[in-house]
Amino acid sequence: MATTTSCWILFYLVVASFGEYCMASQIGLGSRLLAREDRAWMSDNGTFAFGFTPEDGRDDQFQIAVWFAELPGDRITVWTARDSRPVTNNAILELDTTGNLVLIDGDTTVWMSNTSGASVQYAVMSETGNFILYDIEKYTAWQSFSHPSDTLLPNQPLTVSLELTTSKSASHGGYYSLKMLQQPTSLSLALTYNLPESYVNLPESYANYSYWQGPDISNVTGDVVAVLDEAGSFGIVYGESLDGAVYVYKNDGDEKGLSAASNRSTRLAVLRRLTLETNGNIRLYRWDDDINGSRQWVPEWAAVSNPCDIAGICGRRR
Ligand SMILES: *[C@@H]1O[C@H](CO)[C@@H](O)[C@H](O)[C@H]1NC(C)=O
Ligand SMILES: *[C@@H]1O[C@H](CO)[C@@H](O)[C@H](O)[C@H]1NC(C)=O
Ligand SMILES: *[C@@H]1O[C@H](CO)[C@@H](O)[C@H](O)[C@H]1NC(C)=O
Ligand SMILES: *[C@@H]1O[C@H](CO)[C@@H](O)[C@H](O)[C@H]1NC(C)=O
Ligand SMILES: *[C@@H]1O[C@H](CO)[C@@H](O)[C@H](O)[C@H]1NC(C)=O
Ligand SMILES: *[C@@H]1O[C@H](CO)[C@@H](O)[C@H](O)[C@H]1NC(C)=O
Repeated sequence: MATTTSCWILFYLVVASFGEYCMASQIGLGSRLLAREDRAWMSDNGTFAFGFTPEDGRDDQFQIAVWFAELPGDRITVWTARDSRPVTNNAILELDTTGNLVLIDGDTTVWMSNTSGASVQYAVMSETGNFILYDIEKYTAWQSFSHPSDTLLPNQPLTVSLELTTSKSASHGGYYSLKMLQQPTSLSLALTYNLPESYVNLPESYANYSYWQGPDISNVTGDVVAVLDEAGSFGIVYGESLDGAVYVYKNDGDEKGLSAASNRSTRLAVLRRLTLETNGNIRLYRWDDDINGSRQWVPEWAAVSNPCDIAGICGRRR
């Protein structure tokens, strides 16, 4: 704890003395993190960190992740590399000189961003929780927001090609997902239980099972994106300029509305997250920094109010 504190003091001293010229958040080519060191790449105001985090509280297995860096209590990760396996404390994460972000464990390349040919110049852990690789023209070559795991942060677009997923169950390989479900002339957001791969040859009645669906959207042209806005509303925006909106959950205090959601890089006034939990429910949380001293995640909304409606819970077949 003392080390962490002095580290922070040092960080602020550095920031203060470099003033405007401080590039604290720009991660240059050749930068690396080691799993055995307790160091991470921080966002400008310290809200988010990117680095190695212990897997399920173990001290010999790590994964790369983005997490809320300044909140007390259990570490809440908002992104992990889904297609990576856990690594040992010998692992190295490097933004190599070709601009590829690579996770290496011993002799094995476990995961990479595949951005070697994309003219990446530097990386940034943004204040919105997005870890971004920028190219020479300052365009985004790769971003964690486009590879979500189980959490959606405010202004993070969930397009029709993306999904939130829980980890696969260690015992049977099934998992839950939140994605846009396409029907012939409409689509809706749905929570689905995805059967283990070993089930694919079973009879048709064993299909992946959607146990919750948001409102339908019919015959729209243009983009369709699910988004959580800064005021805590969640829903789908659509149309050529994303000006149509269907709410799955509307927060009372939301005046500007869903279609005002945008990808900005400054700190949000209130921290929120929409998390697909391992039990198959999706829940919206707000960080409560109440003046009375209550500092905790407060649930604001959940898709399923009766847990027995979720596939696989309460002994039902699906
Ligand atoms: C990089 O490419 C490999 C091989 O095509 C693929 O398996 C992997 O998912 C890609 N990584 C990312 C982060 O997209
Ligand atoms: C169920 O979902 C998994 C993962 O998305 C997919 O591979 C499989 O084909 C699906 N099975 C059926 C019957 O739709
Ligand atoms: C959507 O388009 C189809 C085919 O063009 C049409 O049959 C259907 O009535 C439309 N649905 C709505 C809700 O407008
Ligand atoms: C986010 O910003 C990028 C580049 O500035 C833009 O191409 C993209 O459409 C934006 N996404 C949303 C949801 O606004
Ligand atoms: C960091 O915090 C300061 C003070 O709250 C704020 O003015 C600034 O916009 C923040 N920077 C970012 C990148 O969010
Ligand atoms: C703080 O606590 C008092 C007394 O319990 C309560 O009246 C007040 O609304 C609380 N303030 C906030 C911001 O919750």
